[in-house]
Amino acid sequence: MIKGFIFDLDGVITDTAELHYEAWKKLSDEMGWHFDRELNEKLRGISRMDSIKVIMDHNRVSLTDDAVVALSTKKNDIYVASLDTMTPNDYLPGAKELLTHLRQEGFLVALGSASKNAAKVLQQLNATHFFDVIGDGNSVAKSKPAPDIFLYASEKLKLQPNNCVVFEDAEKGIDAAIAGGFHSVGIGPAERVGHAEVRFDSMKEATFFEVKSFFSEFF
Ligand code: BG6
Ligand code: MG
Repeated sequence: MIKGFIFDLDGVITDTAELHYEAWKKLSDEMGWHFDRELNEKLRGISRMDSIKVIMDHNRVSLTDDAVVALSTKKNDIYVASLDTMTPNDYLPGAKELLTHLRQEGFLVALGSASKNAAKVLQQLNATHFFDVIGDGNSVAKSKPAPDIFLYASEKLKLQPNNCVVFEDAEKGIDAAIAGGFHSVGIGPAERVGHAEVRFDSMKEATFFEVKSFFSEFF
């Protein structure tokens, strides 16, 4: 029986990928590293430290741990400053409607994000009140594709994984949901999230009616 929903943040509730891209691009330009939108796609859903490692590996760069931390902090400062421009108009189309509908129907709702900036993003969107539990990059040590963040959220909701549906836009996010034994909804192209139990091109198509129809045998 489905009793709860766990949402990824970036790419599901709001589109921060562009802001992450601009911040990594600024850092990379300063460092003389190659960074483009194709490489940015590889960072979808993974932690900040894993992200900088992907960029450095791509550029065949190796630095001390302290230097890597300093650079990722620099990127984060750029990213966090750019979040000030985000407003309650910046939900991805359909996301606010689905959250509203789920709350009206009495479902439990949690956030399961890899971001350490999730609280600020939710604040900018005025979305904090939709969530019973907020799981973010500060909640667990192992990031996606490990299932830990979703297990953290379901434990806090006092639900079993098979009583929860995870919404994810990242390949590694769906991997994490499957590894944890959760139902999964993929948002995006089949090449990325085709391994989810059900997939929608965008949150606009993922209406409460569509989701409920798909999972009807579990309601
Ligand atoms: C995920 C994003 O939600 O959060 C990743 O999809 C990002 O691109 C990760 O790297 C970590 O975010 P932050 O805000 O902690 O740097
Ligand atoms: Mg995401």
